[in-house]
Amino acid sequence: MPFTVAVDGPAAAGKGTVARAVAARFGFAHLDTGLLYRAVGAKGGDPVAAAQSLTEADLARDDLRSEAAGEAASRVAALPEVRGALVAFQRDFAARPGGAVLDGRDIGTVICPDAAVKLFVTAAPEVRARRRWLEAGGDTAPESFDSVLDQVRARDARDMGRADAPLRPAADAVELDTSGLSIEAAVARAVAVVAERLERSSGG
Ligand code: DC
Repeated sequence: MPFTVAVDGPAAAGKGTVARAVAARFGFAHLDTGLLYRAVGAKGGDPVAAAQSLTEADLARDDLRSEAAGEAASRVAALPEVRGALVAFQRDFAARPGGAVLDGRDIGTVICPDAAVKLFVTAAPEVRARRRWLEAGGDTAPESFDSVLDQVRARDARDMGRADAPLRPAADAVELDTSGLSIEAAVARAVAVVAERLERSSGG
């Protein structure tokens, strides 16, 4: 069975950075599954039809990283038919030889429940909102810190509160709280967990 690393967690906790770094360090392929939902939301029209007909070109749009695209993604992600239409793509990606890292909300719980490593990367809402706000320019950002914090809380509530595949740590996930960690420290911890599991799985 190929080696799969599942990285889940709320928005702006650092899971994308951790997932990319782990993939680069161990030579695994990486899939940011949030992009699938963002692409479905951005296509407009019927989200179920959009999910069923998603192509690589849809994932290459350059407007998928905006807060508006994240918001639209979070809405279409609550529809079970949309989630169902995206399962095979994600599982096929995980099954590729050579190992894969998938980051999202339900990778360890639903998409790859047998993943060799499950990381739940999280941070306090205030810390995540501050990162978003600083990225957007801090005092010169178009939005106030309080408004960014409201958005973070609203997205958490939707992602954690939906009936189908809500955001939650798998029972066997290793939690990585990045609230008080530099990105380097968070990556180092994730790499250590993966290295230890890899060693065990190769009988070392
Ligand atoms: O990780 P992200 O911010 O790009 O994700 C955008 C939205 O997509 C997120 O708020 C919820 C949804 N999503 C999901 O439901 N399941 C995933 N595996 C990935 C993302």
